[in-house]
Amino acid sequence: MSNIKDLINQHNDVRKNAINLIVSENIMSKDALAALSSDLASRYAAPFYAGTDISQQIVSVTENKAKALFGTDYVNISPISGSASLMAVVFALTSPGDKVGRVPPFFPGGGYPFNYEVFDRVSLPLPFSDEEWQLDLGATLELLEREKPKLVILGASIFTFPMPVQEVADLVHSYGGIIAYDGSHSMGLIVGKQYQDPLEEGADILFGSTHKTFPGPQGGIIVTNNRELHEKIEVVSNFTPLNGPTMICNPHLARIASLGIVLDEVPWERYAEQVVKNSRAFANTLNAKGYEMRGQSTSRFSEFSYCHQVLPKLDRQLGQGYRDKLKHHNIHVDGFMRVGTAEITRLGYEEDECTRISEIMAEIVTSNQEVIPSLRHEIIEMNARHQEIVM
Ligand SMILES: Cc1ncc(COP(=O)(O)O)c(C=O)c1O
Repeated sequence: MSNIKDLINQHNDVRKNAINLIVSENIMSKDALAALSSDLASRYAAPFYAGTDISQQIVSVTENKAKALFGTDYVNISPISGSASLMAVVFALTSPGDKVGRVPPFFPGGGYPFNYEVFDRVSLPLPFSDEEWQLDLGATLELLEREKPKLVILGASIFTFPMPVQEVADLVHSYGGIIAYDGSHSMGLIVGKQYQDPLEEGADILFGSTHKTFPGPQGGIIVTNNRELHEKIEVVSNFTPLNGPTMICNPHLARIASLGIVLDEVPWERYAEQVVKNSRAFANTLNAKGYEMRGQSTSRFSEFSYCHQVLPKLDRQLGQGYRDKLKHHNIHVDGFMRVGTAEITRLGYEEDECTRISEIMAEIVTSNQEVIPSLRHEIIEMNARHQEIVM
């Protein structure tokens, strides 16, 4: 049987030698990684235990840094993933049998395919225009007016355009509902002020992963300015003296320390701005090479992408074949051939190289050859020039 230490080394080699365009991933700094393997990884922070004074400080300092960066009054950094942050919001704000308005999963829609029914909540998919790759706002407002779900969650997994948060928030608030935004993908861009700011546009809560465009350790975060909602979320997600333990009894300290480091280390605006520029370089080049982009026909948006994702409109089967061909050339994308620019931006790639990678990708996927040695070589060389995090 394989030795895990050997497998880790093999994994590191594979990742080090490939250009990673996976939309859900990012790269962490050495400092943030070191925190994950520090002594904190097996410790508690509860005052009940001796020796926890400093770990308690790590939690409160990270919370304060997060509040300052997000500009919110309340933060919850306990969730161990984006999905866990979603569960905390859903458990805190709905009861069994309640409907939750959501962006429809997969195609068309691109919403996160969370299984509400397993937790006895009723999923209410909002009408979505495949052509525009956007919620059908008129039909969405009509549906919400009629169904009045207690909770509506906007934000998605497969997207390039901002969502109509303000219009939906106005309607949901008019009947006393709550609107939350799943920023699992867009969190780093929101912080960098280069994508829609859901709280500013009327959402009550922003939650999501801390490891996609937000280049931190795997985990989740929930921020809000609403004290009552924050307290309800605390009860379902954390140990509180009154209610005892719920989803998390002991927050994962190594992850929290790592998150605290990342909050400080990224030049957020510069990073997020370059992420979007790089996406546009990919989208424009792929489009010029004949690939239709999702939502291309919409007149509302002048660019193909406003975030870290580039979405060529491909048949599912084709996407998986392309993924495998690109993998043979040390380029990593997913089975929808979504292109993500968060990680390469941290590694210093700019538009000219993104344009060249797109040209190479287009040539690889249309070639009959399994491997084109000259292009594979060019990718390996380009990747070798980008081994350090520069922002
Ligand atoms: C919109 C959205 N929400 C939640 C999640 C779950 O995040 P995690 O993988 O951190 O549990 C994902 C995962 O990709 C996602 O795309």
